[in-house]
Amino acid sequence: MSGKLVIGNWKMNTRADSAQALVSALLDHAATNREGVGIAAPAVYLAALAESLKGSRLALSAQDVSRFAADGAYTGETSAAMLADIGCRYVLVGHSERRQYFGEDNAALLQKMRNAIAAGVTPVLCVGETLEQREAGQHLEVIAAQLAILPELTDGDYVIAYEPVWAIGTGKVATLEQIAEIHAFIKNWCLQNIGSSDKIRVLYGGSVKAENAEAILATENVDGALVGGASLDADSFRVVCQAAGKLI
Ligand code: PGA
Repeated sequence: MSGKLVIGNWKMNTRADSAQALVSALLDHAATNREGVGIAAPAVYLAALAESLKGSRLALSAQDVSRFAADGAYTGETSAAMLADIGCRYVLVGHSERRQYFGEDNAALLQKMRNAIAAGVTPVLCVGETLEQREAGQHLEVIAAQLAILPELTDGDYVIAYEPVWAIGTGKVATLEQIAEIHAFIKNWCLQNIGSSDKIRVLYGGSVKAENAEAILATENVDGALVGGASLDADSFRVVCQAAGKLI
């Protein structure tokens, strides 16, 4: 594992023009046009962005993938093989917005992880507790229950992103102590349940921005960041990526 990984999650934002403009701005700078930086763009723009990214080191990521592996009658779905076909290197799996609005459960997420790995696309499994769960002191067991699909995966690389739901898009950042606690918990959980943790990157996500990136990325066991709102602004995202580039 070398260097930190920063992925910008654009969510359901941009249009064809603004997506291309954002990518051009990222390609213009060494801090963002390098290994260890990626963008998760809306599905409809992925193919065009893949063309723009050809020959660059900036990685393309999808925000979701179908739980169905084979081609067939699954209206509206995008398969892992399709993502691989156009050059996606990563795909987000189980983002809290997908769990919340689309009822994605562990069974579906395990299939998505398997399909991505089989297609050669690295899945980024997102986990995290809600405010109610944290206030009830259940955060560790909630995260462990979300991680429980990982021992089912016998081969292939994946990334984990810890994103406390209460910190996503709210401007409320988890404290460095909270981040350190959960990241250590996840690494330890992986060691105990999968037998190894050094190959698995654990990113932090939730209101990461230019002002707080360096401190978060320097926190123990934080291997990178998943950046939502701040990734829509090339200057802010560049500062986050610069902070990541300075750290091992
Ligand atoms: P945010 O989103 O940075 O806007 O809080 C992070 C995410 O949902 O991945």
